[in-house]
Amino acid sequence: MLGELDLELVAAVDTHCHADHVTGAWLMHQATGCRIGASRRYQPPIQGVDLPLDHGDRIAFGGRHLEVRATPGHTDGCMTLVLDDGSMAFTGDALLIRGAGRCDFQQGSAHTLYRSITREIFTLPDACLVFPGHDYSGRTVSSVAEEKTYNPRIGGAADERDFVEFMQNLNLPHPRQIDVALPANLRSGQPADGKVPRAADWGPVRQTYAGLLEIEPEWVAEHLRQVHVLDVRQPQEMQESPGSIADAQLIPLSELASRLSEIPRGKPVVVVCDAGIRSGQATVILRSAGLQRCANLRGGMLLWSQLGLPTQRSSFK
Ligand SMILES: [Fe+2]
Repeated sequence: MLGELDLELVAAVDTHCHADHVTGAWLMHQATGCRIGASRRYQPPIQGVDLPLDHGDRIAFGGRHLEVRATPGHTDGCMTLVLDDGSMAFTGDALLIRGAGRCDFQQGSAHTLYRSITREIFTLPDACLVFPGHDYSGRTVSSVAEEKTYNPRIGGAADERDFVEFMQNLNLPHPRQIDVALPANLRSGQPADGKVPRAADWGPVRQTYAGLLEIEPEWVAEHLRQVHVLDVRQPQEMQESPGSIADAQLIPLSELASRLSEIPRGKPVVVVCDAGIRSGQATVILRSAGLQRCANLRGGMLLWSQLGLPTQRSSFK
């Protein structure tokens, strides 16, 4: 998505070391070279962090910045990141939408969390949007005014004693993924084997934000012998410009599902059409049929010929 939107990622910042989901920070660093930010308060420190943060620090991006506010209580190193104009706050698991992060493990303290939320988050402008670390009901955003009024744990007239007794009586089950997630998060999400997962083992295949597997035409042109090219256009399109790729197999998209057995299984399959749209759909059909080693030729024959890569007219296997 960063590539598609032509964005440069400055940093992946973890609001805290979480117990139930593994952070993507290390993978984002591997993919983009971005820095990894996290609180410097954790003991032992989180491995892989090259942007250690504490209360009052600023994370600069473009002409803007995020202000770091320490909001411990769910864990020792919880931070809330506040946009420079006070219009947005990223609260991690300190303040959730109509909730607050549990305090019953990982150095948690409900007393500390009460002070963090009331002093560092509820003092922000009422209109400040609150984006929590997660929400199990699919909600993504609230506001300071909403949570001050309607949060059932810390809103309304709740005082510290109300909040602490509420939090101490949640009786939550142990996080299901803690034995996996906590050690991984202490490595910024680096997999235990230290390897970067790849979309495919046979070539530089990329997964688009739409979820399709895609490969660059230049690579395919240089490795034609290593792949099987499947053209899913209609036969009459073969006669039109810009022609086709040498030795491509023709199966129109409308016939693909019923002719899967005709596709040789030895090599990875690169699927092509004129603009890369129908062939994208073809890769979905191939993968659901168990043919995992396949990818869509990015830009189709139009880009292929724009790049001056070799084509032929007609003659199909
Ligand atoms: Fe958490």
